[in-house]
Amino acid sequence: MNTQRFQNKVALVTGGNSGIGRAAAVAFGREGARVVIAARREKEGAEVASEIQSLGGEALFVKTDLTVVDDIDRLFAVIGEKFGQLHCAFNNAGVWPAMKRAARYTVEEFDAVMNINVKAVWRCMQREIPLMISAGGGAIVNCSSVAGWTGEPGSSLYTASKHAVIGLTRAAAVEFGRKNIRINAVCPGMTETPMLDQTLQSGGPEIKKVMLDMIPLGRFGKPEEIAGAVLFLCSEAASYITAKSLVIGGGQVIGP
Ligand SMILES: NC(=O)c1ccc[n+]([C@@H]2O[C@H](COP(=O)([O-])OP(=O)(O)OC[C@H]3O[C@@H](n4cnc5c(N)ncnc54)[C@H](OP(=O)(O)O)[C@@H]3O)[C@@H](O)[C@H]2O)c1
Repeated sequence: MNTQRFQNKVALVTGGNSGIGRAAAVAFGREGARVVIAARREKEGAEVASEIQSLGGEALFVKTDLTVVDDIDRLFAVIGEKFGQLHCAFNNAGVWPAMKRAARYTVEEFDAVMNINVKAVWRCMQREIPLMISAGGGAIVNCSSVAGWTGEPGSSLYTASKHAVIGLTRAAAVEFGRKNIRINAVCPGMTETPMLDQTLQSGGPEIKKVMLDMIPLGRFGKPEEIAGAVLFLCSEAASYITAKSLVIGGGQVIGP
Protein backbone atom coordinates (compact mmCIF):
# COMPACT_ATOMS: atom_id res chain seq x y z
CA MET A 1 0.00 0.00 0.00
CA ASN A 2 1.23 3.49 -0.89
CA THR A 3 1.62 5.37 2.38
CA GLN A 4 2.76 8.66 0.79
CA ARG A 5 -0.38 9.55 -1.15
CA PHE A 6 0.04 13.29 -0.56
CA GLN A 7 3.74 13.83 -1.28
CA ASN A 8 4.37 17.39 -2.55
CA LYS A 9 0.74 18.32 -1.86
CA VAL A 10 -0.28 21.21 0.35
CA ALA A 11 -3.18 20.42 2.72
CA LEU A 12 -5.09 22.85 4.94
CA VAL A 13 -6.91 21.56 8.03
CA THR A 14 -9.09 24.05 9.91
CA GLY A 15 -9.52 23.14 13.55
CA GLY A 16 -6.42 20.99 13.13
CA ASN A 17 -5.27 21.45 16.73
CA SER A 18 -7.89 19.18 18.36
CA GLY A 19 -10.02 16.08 17.91
CA ILE A 20 -10.94 15.07 14.37
CA GLY A 21 -8.96 17.90 12.75
CA ARG A 22 -5.85 16.99 14.71
CA ALA A 23 -6.09 13.35 13.58
CA ALA A 24 -6.52 14.48 9.97
CA ALA A 25 -3.59 16.91 10.15
CA VAL A 26 -1.29 14.19 11.54
CA ALA A 27 -2.51 11.69 8.94
CA PHE A 28 -1.88 14.16 6.08
CA GLY A 29 1.60 14.85 7.48
CA ARG A 30 2.38 11.16 7.84
CA GLU A 31 1.42 10.66 4.18
CA GLY A 32 3.78 13.32 2.89
CA ALA A 33 1.63 16.46 2.71
CA ARG A 34 2.84 19.89 3.73
CA VAL A 35 0.18 20.66 6.34
CA VAL A 36 -1.25 24.04 7.31
CA ILE A 37 -3.21 24.01 10.57
CA ALA A 38 -5.60 26.88 11.31
CA ALA A 39 -7.28 27.39 14.68
CA ARG A 40 -7.20 29.77 17.66
CA ARG A 41 -5.33 27.92 20.44
CA GLU A 42 -1.61 28.35 19.81
CA LYS A 43 -0.14 25.86 22.28
CA GLU A 44 -2.23 23.00 20.88
CA GLY A 45 -1.50 24.15 17.32
CA ALA A 46 2.25 24.20 17.94
CA GLU A 47 2.03 20.70 19.51
CA VAL A 48 0.37 19.23 16.41
CA ALA A 49 2.86 20.94 14.11
CA SER A 50 5.77 19.49 16.09
CA GLU A 51 4.15 16.03 16.17
CA ILE A 52 4.00 16.12 12.36
CA GLN A 53 7.58 17.37 12.15
CA SER A 54 8.73 14.55 14.47
CA LEU A 55 7.21 12.10 11.95
CA GLY A 56 9.40 13.67 9.26
CA GLY A 57 6.64 15.85 7.81
CA GLU A 58 6.27 19.57 7.21
CA ALA A 59 3.65 21.56 9.15
CA LEU A 60 2.79 25.15 9.86
CA PHE A 61 0.32 26.43 12.48
CA VAL A 62 -1.38 29.73 11.65
CA LYS A 63 -3.34 31.20 14.56
CA THR A 64 -6.72 31.95 13.02
CA ASP A 65 -10.15 32.82 14.33
CA LEU A 66 -12.22 31.62 11.39
CA THR A 67 -15.08 33.94 12.32
CA VAL A 68 -12.83 36.96 11.71
CA VAL A 69 -12.42 37.95 8.04
CA ASP A 70 -9.01 39.58 8.58
CA ASP A 71 -7.72 36.35 10.14
CA ILE A 72 -8.96 34.32 7.17
CA ASP A 73 -7.33 36.79 4.77
CA ARG A 74 -4.06 36.45 6.68
CA LEU A 75 -4.26 32.64 6.69
CA PHE A 76 -4.61 32.50 2.91
CA ALA A 77 -1.96 35.17 2.43
CA VAL A 78 0.45 32.95 4.43
CA ILE A 79 -0.50 29.89 2.36
CA GLY A 80 0.01 31.89 -0.85
CA GLU A 81 3.38 33.29 0.26
CA LYS A 82 4.76 30.09 1.76
CA PHE A 83 3.47 27.47 -0.69
CA GLY A 84 1.89 29.35 -3.61
CA GLN A 85 -0.68 26.61 -4.03
CA LEU A 86 -3.21 24.40 -2.27
CA HIS A 87 -4.31 20.88 -3.20
CA CYS A 88 -6.43 19.62 -0.29
CA ALA A 89 -8.56 21.32 2.35
CA PHE A 90 -10.49 19.89 5.28
CA ASN A 91 -12.90 22.59 6.50
CA ASN A 92 -13.45 20.98 9.87
CA ALA A 93 -13.53 23.68 12.58
CA GLY A 94 -16.86 23.84 14.32
CA VAL A 95 -18.77 24.03 17.58
CA TRP A 96 -21.57 22.02 19.15
CA PRO A 97 -23.81 24.44 21.09
CA ALA A 98 -25.61 23.58 24.31
CA MET A 99 -28.79 21.62 23.64
CA LYS A 100 -32.10 23.40 24.13
CA ARG A 101 -35.45 23.80 22.45
CA ALA A 102 -35.36 25.69 19.14
CA ALA A 103 -37.28 28.72 20.37
CA ARG A 104 -34.94 29.18 23.33
CA TYR A 105 -31.78 29.99 21.36
CA THR A 106 -30.91 33.67 21.25
CA VAL A 107 -30.05 35.55 18.07
CA GLU A 108 -26.49 35.86 19.40
CA GLU A 109 -26.22 32.08 19.87
CA PHE A 110 -27.68 31.49 16.41
CA ASP A 111 -25.18 33.88 14.78
CA ALA A 112 -22.21 32.50 16.72
CA VAL A 113 -22.89 28.91 15.62
CA MET A 114 -23.64 29.83 12.01
CA ASN A 115 -20.52 32.03 11.83
CA ILE A 116 -18.15 29.16 12.52
CA ASN A 117 -20.09 26.08 11.34
CA VAL A 118 -21.37 27.54 8.05
CA LYS A 119 -20.01 30.97 7.18
CA ALA A 120 -16.38 30.01 7.87
CA VAL A 121 -16.73 26.95 5.61
CA TRP A 122 -18.08 29.19 2.83
CA ARG A 123 -15.40 31.83 3.35
CA CYS A 124 -12.63 29.23 3.33
CA MET A 125 -13.98 27.64 0.14
CA GLN A 126 -14.03 31.10 -1.48
CA ARG A 127 -10.29 31.35 -0.92
CA GLU A 128 -9.36 27.69 -1.38
CA ILE A 129 -10.98 27.28 -4.79
CA PRO A 130 -8.91 29.91 -6.67
CA LEU A 131 -5.69 28.47 -5.20
CA MET A 132 -6.77 24.99 -6.30
CA ILE A 133 -7.72 26.18 -9.77
CA SER A 134 -4.26 27.66 -10.21
CA ALA A 135 -2.78 24.34 -9.00
CA GLY A 136 -4.73 22.51 -11.75
CA GLY A 137 -7.31 21.03 -9.38
CA GLY A 138 -7.89 19.96 -5.82
CA ALA A 139 -10.13 18.29 -3.27
CA ILE A 140 -12.14 19.88 -0.48
CA VAL A 141 -13.81 17.99 2.36
CA ASN A 142 -16.25 19.88 4.56
CA CYS A 143 -17.19 18.65 8.01
CA SER A 144 -20.91 18.10 8.44
CA SER A 145 -22.29 15.52 10.88
CA VAL A 146 -24.85 12.76 11.28
CA ALA A 147 -26.87 15.81 12.38
CA GLY A 148 -26.67 16.93 8.74
CA TRP A 149 -29.05 14.06 7.95
CA THR A 150 -31.20 13.81 11.04
CA GLY A 151 -33.13 15.97 13.48
CA GLU A 152 -32.97 15.31 17.22
CA PRO A 153 -34.80 17.26 19.92
CA GLY A 154 -32.63 19.97 21.45
CA SER A 155 -30.25 20.17 18.51
CA SER A 156 -32.01 22.47 16.05
CA LEU A 157 -29.23 25.03 15.74
CA TYR A 158 -26.41 22.51 15.29
CA THR A 159 -28.61 20.46 12.95
CA ALA A 160 -29.44 23.48 10.79
CA SER A 161 -25.76 24.40 10.54
CA LYS A 162 -24.73 20.88 9.53
CA HIS A 163 -27.54 20.58 6.95
CA ALA A 164 -26.24 23.87 5.52
CA VAL A 165 -22.74 22.42 5.16
CA ILE A 166 -24.15 19.62 3.01
CA GLY A 167 -26.02 22.17 0.87
CA LEU A 168 -22.88 24.27 0.38
CA THR A 169 -20.90 21.15 -0.48
CA ARG A 170 -23.34 19.92 -3.12
CA ALA A 171 -23.83 23.26 -4.87
CA ALA A 172 -20.14 24.19 -4.90
CA ALA A 173 -19.21 20.71 -6.15
CA VAL A 174 -21.56 21.10 -9.10
CA GLU A 175 -20.19 24.59 -9.84
CA PHE A 176 -16.51 23.62 -9.80
CA GLY A 177 -16.46 20.07 -11.20
CA ARG A 178 -15.31 21.35 -14.60
CA LYS A 179 -12.34 23.01 -12.88
CA ASN A 180 -11.17 19.63 -11.58
CA ILE A 181 -12.14 20.45 -8.02
CA ARG A 182 -13.95 17.77 -6.06
CA ILE A 183 -15.95 18.84 -3.01
CA ASN A 184 -17.39 16.32 -0.56
CA ALA A 185 -18.50 16.27 3.06
CA VAL A 186 -17.89 13.87 5.90
CA CYS A 187 -20.70 13.36 8.40
CA PRO A 188 -19.19 11.95 11.58
CA GLY A 189 -21.30 10.25 14.16
CA MET A 190 -20.42 10.60 17.82
CA THR A 191 -16.64 10.64 17.92
CA GLU A 192 -14.29 10.60 20.92
CA THR A 193 -13.06 14.20 20.99
CA PRO A 194 -13.12 17.06 23.50
CA MET A 195 -16.41 18.16 21.89
CA LEU A 196 -18.10 14.85 22.73
CA ASP A 197 -16.51 14.81 26.23
CA GLN A 198 -18.06 18.20 26.93
CA THR A 199 -21.51 16.98 25.86
CA LEU A 200 -21.21 13.81 27.94
CA GLN A 201 -20.18 15.85 30.99
CA SER A 202 -23.08 18.28 30.64
CA GLY A 203 -25.73 15.67 29.80
CA GLY A 204 -26.08 13.81 33.10
CA PRO A 205 -25.30 10.17 34.01
CA GLU A 206 -27.72 8.53 31.54
CA ILE A 207 -26.57 10.34 28.43
CA LYS A 208 -23.68 8.04 27.49
CA LYS A 209 -25.88 4.93 27.47
CA VAL A 210 -28.61 6.74 25.50
CA MET A 211 -26.04 7.79 22.91
CA LEU A 212 -24.40 4.38 22.63
CA ASP A 213 -27.81 2.71 22.23
CA MET A 214 -28.26 4.72 19.01
CA ILE A 215 -25.15 3.23 17.38
CA PRO A 216 -25.38 -0.22 15.76
CA LEU A 217 -21.62 -0.82 16.19
CA GLY A 218 -22.13 -0.11 19.91
CA ARG A 219 -19.24 2.32 20.38
CA PHE A 220 -18.21 5.89 19.64
CA GLY A 221 -15.98 6.60 16.65
CA LYS A 222 -12.30 7.46 16.94
CA PRO A 223 -10.93 10.67 15.36
CA GLU A 224 -8.55 8.55 13.26
CA GLU A 225 -11.55 6.73 11.73
CA ILE A 226 -12.96 10.04 10.47
CA ALA A 227 -9.50 11.18 9.33
CA GLY A 228 -9.14 8.01 7.25
CA ALA A 229 -12.28 8.90 5.31
CA VAL A 230 -11.12 12.50 4.83
CA LEU A 231 -7.82 11.36 3.35
CA PHE A 232 -9.60 8.84 1.12
CA LEU A 233 -11.90 11.59 -0.24
CA CYS A 234 -8.86 13.81 -0.91
CA SER A 235 -6.91 11.00 -2.58
CA GLU A 236 -6.70 9.73 -6.14
CA ALA A 237 -8.73 6.69 -5.07
CA ALA A 238 -11.74 9.04 -4.87
CA SER A 239 -11.05 10.74 -8.22
CA TYR A 240 -14.64 10.22 -9.46
CA ILE A 241 -16.39 11.10 -6.19
CA THR A 242 -17.76 14.59 -5.73
CA ALA A 243 -20.83 16.26 -4.18
CA LYS A 244 -21.23 13.36 -1.75
CA SER A 245 -21.79 13.40 2.00
CA LEU A 246 -20.26 10.36 3.63
CA VAL A 247 -21.74 9.29 6.95
CA ILE A 248 -19.17 7.70 9.27
CA GLY A 249 -21.33 6.84 12.21
CA GLY A 250 -21.03 3.16 13.10
CA GLY A 251 -24.33 2.56 11.30
CA GLN A 252 -26.17 5.34 13.11
CA VAL A 253 -27.81 6.67 9.96
CA ILE A 254 -29.01 4.08 7.48
CA GLY A 255 -29.37 5.59 4.03
CA PRO A 256 -26.80 8.04 2.62
N1 LIG B 1 -17.02 14.78 17.97
C1 LIG B 1 -18.18 14.47 17.44
O1 LIG B 1 -18.92 13.62 17.99
C2 LIG B 1 -18.62 15.10 16.15
C3 LIG B 1 -19.72 14.54 15.48
C4 LIG B 1 -20.12 15.09 14.28
C5 LIG B 1 -19.45 16.18 13.74
N2 LIG B 1 -18.40 16.71 14.41
C6 LIG B 1 -17.74 17.86 13.80
O2 LIG B 1 -16.36 17.63 13.70
C7 LIG B 1 -15.66 18.88 13.69
C8 LIG B 1 -14.50 18.80 14.67
O3 LIG B 1 -15.02 18.62 15.97
P1 LIG B 1 -14.26 17.78 17.10
O4 LIG B 1 -15.21 16.78 17.59
O5 LIG B 1 -12.92 17.38 16.64
O6 LIG B 1 -14.21 18.90 18.25
P2 LIG B 1 -13.02 19.68 18.98
O7 LIG B 1 -11.98 18.72 19.42
O8 LIG B 1 -13.70 20.55 19.96
O9 LIG B 1 -12.41 20.56 17.81
C9 LIG B 1 -13.05 21.70 17.32
C10 LIG B 1 -12.02 22.46 16.52
O10 LIG B 1 -12.61 23.62 15.93
C11 LIG B 1 -11.76 24.72 16.18
N3 LIG B 1 -12.54 25.96 16.21
C12 LIG B 1 -13.70 26.20 16.88
N4 LIG B 1 -14.06 27.49 16.72
C13 LIG B 1 -13.11 28.07 15.94
C14 LIG B 1 -12.90 29.38 15.44
N5 LIG B 1 -13.75 30.37 15.70
N6 LIG B 1 -11.82 29.60 14.67
C15 LIG B 1 -10.94 28.61 14.40
N7 LIG B 1 -11.08 27.36 14.83
C16 LIG B 1 -12.15 27.08 15.61
C17 LIG B 1 -11.11 24.42 17.53
O11 LIG B 1 -9.87 25.10 17.69
P3 LIG B 1 -9.69 26.41 18.64
O12 LIG B 1 -10.66 26.29 19.76
O13 LIG B 1 -8.26 26.40 19.06
O14 LIG B 1 -9.98 27.57 17.73
C18 LIG B 1 -10.87 22.92 17.38
O15 LIG B 1 -9.67 22.70 16.68
C19 LIG B 1 -16.71 19.95 14.02
O16 LIG B 1 -17.13 20.60 12.83
C20 LIG B 1 -17.86 19.14 14.60
O17 LIG B 1 -19.10 19.77 14.45
C21 LIG B 1 -17.97 16.20 15.60
